[in-house]
Order: sequence, then structure tokens, then C-alpha cells
Amino acid sequence: MKNYIKPHEWNIIEEGFDPHLNKISESIFSLGNGRMGQRANFEETYTGETLPGNYVAGIYYPDKTRVGWWKNGYPEYFAKVLNAANWIGIEVKIDDETLDLATCSVTDFKRVLNMHAGYLERSFTATLKSGKTLKVTSTRFCSIVDDEVGAIRYTVTPLNFDGKLTLLPFIDGDVKNQDSNYDEKFWEAVNDKISGTEAFLTLRTKKTGFEVCTGSSIEVYRNGTSEDIAPEHIIKDKYVGHQFTLDVSAGEEITLVKIAANLSSENHTKADILQQTQAVVKAAAQKGFDVLLQQQAEAWAAKWEESDIVIEGDVAAQQAIRFNIFQLFQTYTGKDSRLNIGPKGFTGEKYGGSTYWDTEAYCVPFYLATAPQQVSKNLLIYRYKQLDKAIENAAKLGFDKGAALYPMVTINGEECHNEWEITFEEIHRNGAIAYAIFNYIRYTGDESYLYDYGLEVLVGIARFWKQRVNWSDAKKQYVILGVTGPNEYENNVNNNWYTNLLAAWCMKYAIEAAGIVEAAQPEKYLALINKLSLGENEFNDWAQIIDKMYYPVDDEKGIFLQQDGYLDKEQILVKDLPASQRPINQKWSWDRILRSCYIKQADVLQGLYFFEDEYDTDTIKRNFDFYEPRTVHESSLSPCVHSILAARLNDEARAYEFYLRTARLDLDDYNNDTEDGLHITSMAGTWMSVVEGFAGMRVRDGKLQFNPFLPGKWQSFSFTIGFRGTVLNVKITESEISIKNNTAINLEITVKNQQFTLAGYSLLEATYKELA
Ligand code: BGC
Repeated sequence: MKNYIKPHEWNIIEEGFDPHLNKISESIFSLGNGRMGQRANFEETYTGETLPGNYVAGIYYPDKTRVGWWKNGYPEYFAKVLNAANWIGIEVKIDDETLDLATCSVTDFKRVLNMHAGYLERSFTATLKSGKTLKVTSTRFCSIVDDEVGAIRYTVTPLNFDGKLTLLPFIDGDVKNQDSNYDEKFWEAVNDKISGTEAFLTLRTKKTGFEVCTGSSIEVYRNGTSEDIAPEHIIKDKYVGHQFTLDVSAGEEITLVKIAANLSSENHTKADILQQTQAVVKAAAQKGFDVLLQQQAEAWAAKWEESDIVIEGDVAAQQAIRFNIFQLFQTYTGKDSRLNIGPKGFTGEKYGGSTYWDTEAYCVPFYLATAPQQVSKNLLIYRYKQLDKAIENAAKLGFDKGAALYPMVTINGEECHNEWEITFEEIHRNGAIAYAIFNYIRYTGDESYLYDYGLEVLVGIARFWKQRVNWSDAKKQYVILGVTGPNEYENNVNNNWYTNLLAAWCMKYAIEAAGIVEAAQPEKYLALINKLSLGENEFNDWAQIIDKMYYPVDDEKGIFLQQDGYLDKEQILVKDLPASQRPINQKWSWDRILRSCYIKQADVLQGLYFFEDEYDTDTIKRNFDFYEPRTVHESSLSPCVHSILAARLNDEARAYEFYLRTARLDLDDYNNDTEDGLHITSMAGTWMSVVEGFAGMRVRDGKLQFNPFLPGKWQSFSFTIGFRGTVLNVKITESEISIKNNTAINLEITVKNQQFTLAGYSLLEATYKELA
């Protein structure tokens, strides 16, 4: 755990330069706009430890699979989001000495990520080996107004010398992924073009043939006045740059403005991608850095209006929750249904930028409440578009008749994961995809999603489960054998309670959804039935399985069993494990982990979280009290579910304790892995802990409910959500809740079991005493 980020309500601040922390900071200070993103690498040369990272959404390379023992059904490749051309580079030379923070002495180093306005600032003073000292400040951002544009303002001030300053802004496409399986480079050059102060580089991905054109336009100023100097043009393999040489005097401020753009063949035809990039760069350069930055600040301010969480009385918590919200919006803006959310977003290579069940189980609730409805709808449509691939994926494993198995890890719909115990067995992911459809409709009331897209997905998923269960003569019930539940520390188990529950629920929901479509849109329904060759007998088969599904339980303890035989395991609680043995995934052999009772992440409890209305409080409590002490939370997705359940059980102290484990996970590098990238998807879980946990927000029968409490240390917290056309500000203090309706729409809401009508533009204020 580290503790070097300075607390501040709106900014993430690092003071002082510690090269050992650089890769962590590169992750934390990452920038993105949903279409592209980058780690907080330095503009100037840096020969110290760094993980260069610039990513363009949707642009991937199929990296040939590398496994020890091949199993039939493994994917041929892992589709990875590529490290793309570095457009931030600016080489700085003083006379003939290169500015490189790894080789000079650095003072006054400061990095600030301004979350309210969406930009990154850095400043430092460097003394080179020659004794020459200069001051540098830089500001950069990826525009959320024009998401193909990024901009940098980089100022160098010689402090104790007159001399020659060389600035070489460049675009470098000769980059690779550190996680490349065969140490290959994934890009080949298409063309380069340099003229005046503009430069363009078009690259093509090997195998997939995506093209990305990166362009830049440069301006140089001396003490704020434009400097009319002709740069030298530098062209190398996959590299274009402009070299500006200036005679400078001590105290003069030399500013270089680099306006850049990244256009991809996903959005432009290859034939005119260069011309389009030229046009985008020109238009952005005409606006100029200050206007672009101003627009960026306005656009971020508007986003915060819809999504902020304000915590009074705890600056560290305030900073953390805003950081999580900020990073989620930097990763996914919901404009494009071909894009999704990688667990590391644009902040690192790990997980290949691919989509996991994290999106449906954790991120959808966040976007539902904090962004326009289309944003979460697009996440759902992403899976709809990949239904054919999910059917193919299931067919590869021997399923037929339209059964769909969504991949564990994917970019284009094809499975990328290649460990049999996950690829073939962690099939609960299919259920999360169906659950997200249910969740979306529960929140928005938009049943049309079922007619247009959802029912087809639900039928494919139900068909998969129908074929994946088998009848047990011994049990006289249906069982699901050989699975991995969310708890990946158990593989190839029989009857994982969560998986069985979700499987039966998916079939039930598919039947229900079919009924909804039939009633509302009989013609569409008929067309769908024909398209899917869906027969009445299928519904009957599903109903029979639902009716006769086997669920492992222990009657004596009154708990659901994580899987058959779970209680045979030696039951030593996590609290009795010496600290030296943890995290067990680093300290223990895999075999020992598999035989242990330790749970990586919420599993039975994930099921109770999803379907809490089906269970009474005692049942939830018995299971929580049993499973929580056995859970090691070695997935960052875990504590939030425990936090929400603890809140549901009125265990306020523990709800807060679990929340703390994710809230500053990356800011404090809690798991010692922030240098690989941020835990973007678990950030949505932190948001859930606050809104679903502390505020107890639920949607039942189409209405919002709150059952709030205030975590001990805080003076108050408030948040903004959108719900069915309304925008609400909810504030919770120790003694009261207030809910302001910012729209004309009247809303029925329930607070602590009492119903209210919140008229348009009205404010509800109620003390807990009044509500008791
Ligand atoms: C978790 C999975 C998750 C994946 C990506 C794993 O460690 O166990 O549930 O989908 O990380 O976040």
C-alpha cells in the first residue's frame, strides 16, 4: 500500500518525483475520452521505468495463443487492444543535452489531474549534468467534446543559461505491447506526410488490417508571442517529427502547442482517412488550445452535474469517489455500441482491453444512474451484436440449436480466454448478460429493448442452459457439472449454487420476456418466433428444468452451499490465516488454493446480491455470516458486494469497512498492482457501495426506494442520479434525507418504507425519526 497522493476534493496530486512510483502514477494520472486513452507517460524522453501506453478504442490485434497444453476448443488468439502511436512525444534538448528525468536532478515536481475540468498538468525544475537548469510545465487532455482530438501545451523556461533549445514534437508508431506473446510488433506503416508544421502517420495493424491515422499540428511561442520558425522535418520508419531550434535567454518562456488527432478506420474509410485527419487537426488547431481546453472544462462540468457524489467530512473519500467516477467516464462514454469496457480501460495492457462479465454485473448499474439511457443500452446492444458469435462459440463446444455462450473475454465476440477451467467452465458469465437486460429494464422501464434486441439474446442464453444441465437419476433433479463459479479459487466443481440459480433464472426470465413481447408486440413476437424457430415445447422444457433444478444447501447451517462438497473442506477462517500467507494467490500453490475453503470473491453472496428480493433477511444474514469470514477478496470486484449486503443487513460499520477496501484501491495502490493499470470495472463497484449500499437505493415495481445511513466518519453525502427522465439530487446526513427533483416529472418514491410523491421541481426532506 502507498500513500503518496495528496488529498484534495477535485484534484489528484503527486508532489516530488520518485522514479519507483512512476509506473503507478502513469496509471493513476491516465487520460481518456472513450475513443482513445493513454497512460500518463512523459512528453519528453524518459529512460527510467515506464510502461508506454496509447490506445485507440476498438483497434486490436489477434495475438496468437500461447499455452502449455492445448485443449480442443481453445481460441487461436487473444485479441488485444494495441499500444498505438505515441502522439504526446516532445524531445527536448538544451544545446546537445537531452532532457530526461531519469538522468538529471529534479525538483518541484508536481502532477495534478484536474478531474473537474478533465486535464493533466505537470511541472518540474530539472538540472542537467551540465548544471543548466530549466523549468517545464505541461498541460494535456483527450477531448471529450471531439473525441478524436488531444492537445498538449508544453512550456520550457531556461532558468540559469542562455543557449540553444531544440524541441522535437513527434508521432512515433514504432511501438509494441509489452504483453506481446511472441515479442512481435503489431503495426505496419501505410504512409507518412509532413508539411509545414503538420505531420501525419498512418499505420495498419497486421492481420486485422485496421488503420489509424495520427496527425499533429504544432505552434511555438516565445513569451506568449507566436514564433515564426521553420522546423526541420524528420521522417524515420513509422515516425514523423518537427525539429524547432531556438536561441533562448534565461527567463524566456518557450511554449510548444501540439494539437493531435487519432482517426481510425472503424469510423472513416481507409481511402480518405488521411484527408479526414488533416481536416480534424486543422479544425482543432483553428480553435486553438485555450478554446479546446475551455470546451473540455465545460463538457466535464456538465458530466459532473449528472453524476457527482459529494462527501462532506472526509477529503480522502471525496477524492476517491470522484476519481472512480472520472476514470469510468474516461473509459466509456456510451456513444458507440461497438465499444465496451476493459477491466483496465485505457490505462494498461493487462486484460487486453477486452470485455468481461464485469461490464454487465458491475458497470451497467453505474451508467444506468449517471448517464443518458442510451449509454447503458449501448452496452447491451454490444452483446446483441455479438449473439451470432456467442452461438458459434457454443457450437465449438458442442452445443447446438441456437444455444449461445458468450465469451469470458472478448473484443469482437470471439472467445479469447484460454484456460479450460475458465473458458469452458466459468459459464455463469452468460447469466450476467441476461441479468443486465433485466436490470436495464427494471431501471429504465424500457421494455422495447426486449422486442428489438433482448429476447433473442435471452433465448440463446436459455437454450445454452437447457443443454448444459443434465438430469441426475440419483438426485431426481437437474444438475450442472464441471463449472467454475465467480470464486475462481474453485474449479471444475459440481452444482455451484450461484451458477445453478442463474441458469434457472435465465430460463425463467426468457419465458417471462417472451410473454411481454407477445402481449405488447404480437406481430414482432411472431416474427421473432419464426426467426428463432422457437417452439412451445422449448418453454415447457425450460419450465421443467426451473421446477426441478438442484440447489446445494446445508439444512443444519441454514445456508446455500457454494457447491457440492464445500463443507468437506478444512474450515479455517481468513482471520486465522497468518498475514504472511496472504494474498494466497501469491503465497500458495494453485493446488493448495483449490483444496482450501477460501473464496476469491463474492459467489453465493453475488447471487444473494442479484436476487435479494427472493430471500428473507435471516437467510441473507446466515449466508453472509458464513461466507464473509471465508472470503479473501483477492478480486477487486468482491468487497463492494459484501459492502452492499452488509448495508442491507444494517451492519453499517462493516459496510463502510468493505467500501474502504475498494474506494482508494488504485490511489493507494492497495494491491501493489496499480502500475499495470487501474481497476476500472471495480470502480463501478465502489459507486454501487455508496448508492446501493449506504443510500440503500433500489428499484422495485418501477419505483425508486432508499434506505439510507451515514457512514460514521462522514458529515453527509449526496449524489445525483437520473431515473426515468428525472434528475434527482439525494443528500443524506446523520439525521435526514433530502431528495430534490430537478425536473417537471412527478415521481413516486419510498424512503425507509414510507411512500412519497415527489412532485416536479419539489424537495422532499424527512428526518429518520419521522420515517421510523
Ligand atoms: C475476476 C473475474 C473478473 C476478471 C476481470 C478476475 O480476477 O476473478 O471475476 O472478471 O478478474 O476483472
